[in-house]
Amino acid sequence: MEEEIVKAAEIVLKSKFVIALTGAGISAESGIPTFRGKDGLWNKYRPDELASPEGFAMDPKRVWEWYNWRIKLVLSAEPNPGHIALAELEKLGVLKGLITQNVDDLHERAGSRNIVKLHGRILRARCTRCDYWEDVKKPYDELPPRCPKCGNLLRPDVVWFGEPIPSRELSRAYELVERADCILVVGTSAMVMPAGAFPSMVKRNNGCVVEINPDETHVSMFADVSIREKAGVALPKLLKLIKERIGADGE
Ligand code: OAD
Ligand code: ZN
Repeated sequence: MEEEIVKAAEIVLKSKFVIALTGAGISAESGIPTFRGKDGLWNKYRPDELASPEGFAMDPKRVWEWYNWRIKLVLSAEPNPGHIALAELEKLGVLKGLITQNVDDLHERAGSRNIVKLHGRILRARCTRCDYWEDVKKPYDELPPRCPKCGNLLRPDVVWFGEPIPSRELSRAYELVERADCILVVGTSAMVMPAGAFPSMVKRNNGCVVEINPDETHVSMFADVSIREKAGVALPKLLKLIKERIGADGE
């Protein structure tokens, strides 16, 4: 693993516009379950029932019960060393932007600034009818929650299957991907589009792909280096090496 990390650090240091793409795996060490894989949410729950407009129309209470449980998890979770290392890489000026598929707020809380949240925010709810939205500071007591302005149903402010990604987020993401000459692909199976295509887009533009994931994915086939390790272990090591090389040790 050390050899791969050295190689990854070299790639990052020779690149001019490094971005990161993250997925559920980076929050796994904070106690938030991933979607696929052995303990994945989609092994236990049905995405068409819980994460689609049709599922919500069928049974909004069931959908909200599931989101309430996940909201509770996110509110009690803390950013882990992986989130923190990415935030530090941005502060150092090494990382230019971060695209995440995660709906939790752990990147923000770790201190990342230039974040594109492709799939929305679980800690926000919006009205299904009017323009009302609110921050979610605790799980809802009464389900499904209703809009205080117009009385219609509130829904989680996330992107469900079959729904488009908000155009502002999508164009910010493409802007980063098109400029990138290196992408760190962390904790994602890269199975869901469009994010799943970002690594190969960077590669096609002659950029480098660094993958951090304990398991193999389709990105591994064309990645310049794959670090088979947990994000919370690999990213701090990568950060340390980069700091040493650029003499930003500080202390
Ligand atoms: P997945 O659950 O598909 O993939 C998580 C990845 O993280 C897997 O490849 C794991 O091997 C890896 N992983 C697990 N633990 C890790 C760790 N500690 N460090 C690094 N990697 C680890 O999650 P996503 O790729 O994020 O969309 O899934 C993409 C989208 O599919 C989600 O945003 C969600 C889901 O359906 C919507 O809800 C629209
Ligand atoms: Zn309303």
